[in-house]
Amino acid sequence: MRIVIAKDYKDMSARAARIVAGQIYLKPNSILGLATGSTPLLMYKELIRVHKEVGLDLSEIVTFNLDEYLGLPKEDQQSYHYYMFHHFFNHINIKKKNIFIPDGMVQDVGQECKNYDENIKEMGGIDLQVLGIGNNGHIGFNEPDIKFEATTHKVKLDDETIHANARFFATIEEVPRFAISMGIKTIMHAKKVLLLVSGENKAEVLYHALYGGITPEIPASILQLHQDVTVIVEESAAHLLQQKS
Ligand code: F6R
Repeated sequence: MRIVIAKDYKDMSARAARIVAGQIYLKPNSILGLATGSTPLLMYKELIRVHKEVGLDLSEIVTFNLDEYLGLPKEDQQSYHYYMFHHFFNHINIKKKNIFIPDGMVQDVGQECKNYDENIKEMGGIDLQVLGIGNNGHIGFNEPDIKFEATTHKVKLDDETIHANARFFATIEEVPRFAISMGIKTIMHAKKVLLLVSGENKAEVLYHALYGGITPEIPASILQLHQDVTVIVEESAAHLLQQKS
């Protein structure tokens, strides 16, 4: 595991964008796993800049998002579909057919999850998976006490996640209670993982995830067993790591 301490959010985002862009330069038809949330926002902005100003071609990439809320249509401004198009896909030359995000309105959730994993497999597996980490240690929506062996599946959101994500909704009641998420097994099959960590409030959970025991109580702790993980952590989230080293 490589741990890179970035000066601030801007530096973290620029470093992350360089790794993603490097992956695409080396393999233009890369299969990317993508995250939503606050953390990768500036990384997407930087990738759009590199696409527009430096000419990074994104026409061959294939993307699989980590998760989607159940019950929100694609057009809903709180859906992860909306987020991805609004913050990234609408500004680059990705082909629509190469974008995969779980469908939050699907009737047969089990079949949707199965198809999602099969599609990833058929494409040859994820080359680079971008992750954020929740305040409770979740990755994707794999909440504490998850089964490490789970593939893409329906999840019940943790109270802590509902509270954390309420900031994007008018009221906490509007936050969906269920989602579809890639499972830990799906994530662990990615060839490379890029974990981005921003904000002082993530310092403690990051410390436990990287240096504590590997336990379903902190789902991100499983990353200690992945063979190729880069963690880019903003300085404000890294003070406990620095004390350790
Ligand atoms: C998002 C996702 C989540 C977030 C995590 C951190 O697709 O799967 O695991 O990465 O909740 O969210 P932020 O970045 O908003 O702190």
